[in-house]
Amino acid sequence: MKIIKLSATDSTNTYLKRLVKETELPDETVVHTNHQLSGRGQMGNGWLSREGQSLTFSIFKRFEAVEIDKQFMISMAVSLAISEALKSLNIPDVSIKWPNDILSDNKKIGGILIENVLEGSLVKYSVIGIGLNVNETNFPNLPQASSMKLETGRTFQLDEVFHSVLEIVFKNLQNLSIDDFIEIKAIYEDNLFRKELISVFETPQGLNFNGIIKGVSEIGALLVETENGLLQQFQLKEVKMVY
Ligand code: BTN
Repeated sequence: MKIIKLSATDSTNTYLKRLVKETELPDETVVHTNHQLSGRGQMGNGWLSREGQSLTFSIFKRFEAVEIDKQFMISMAVSLAISEALKSLNIPDVSIKWPNDILSDNKKIGGILIENVLEGSLVKYSVIGIGLNVNETNFPNLPQASSMKLETGRTFQLDEVFHSVLEIVFKNLQNLSIDDFIEIKAIYEDNLFRKELISVFETPQGLNFNGIIKGVSEIGALLVETENGLLQQFQLKEVKMVY
């Protein structure tokens, strides 16, 4: 593993993607910054972090045997690794809100942005961006956000958290292959926020409906049992969970 530490950068994902194009980058290169100026989140959103209080880093990982239609496996393996690391640091009530928000006590403390590069029917490599709210205590206008410090009352050593997460992420991604899919999916579903509970969802058209989360499909769509008893599949852009 090679770690590149930057005092500041726009986005560690963007930086790493540039680097992959310009150089022959060793597998498992990590780019970390203390100060991310223009963090990117899912669905074109931004990701805010405070200098020296949060973790923002991205991992370059090559794959040999991850089929495109099973690429959600990478996302599941990474979210599970982060959850595992946080549980080992005694963060309370850790769960994964589909597809890959990391929650503690129903509040978001971490986010993941995975950008896959494909070749033929396989994922060639991923740039896996991880943002963790570690010691921040102030989230203006973000009522559903929290941090490890707010959830525990403890202040964390950023480097310690960084290395715990890295170790488990690399362990989970080692030799990832299709044979692991069923097992990873089962563990992911066990950790899924509000599984088997009635939740409120919102469509992009602003319509609300109730449903029970049953799990995820092979391609990572959310499986929801709606009020008429049907099991429906939703992609990320098709539905937002209100609660
Ligand atoms: C989300 O929940 O929307 C995903 C947030 C991902 C943020 C991380 S911070 C490190 C890496 N660099 C980025 O620009 N984004 C990811």
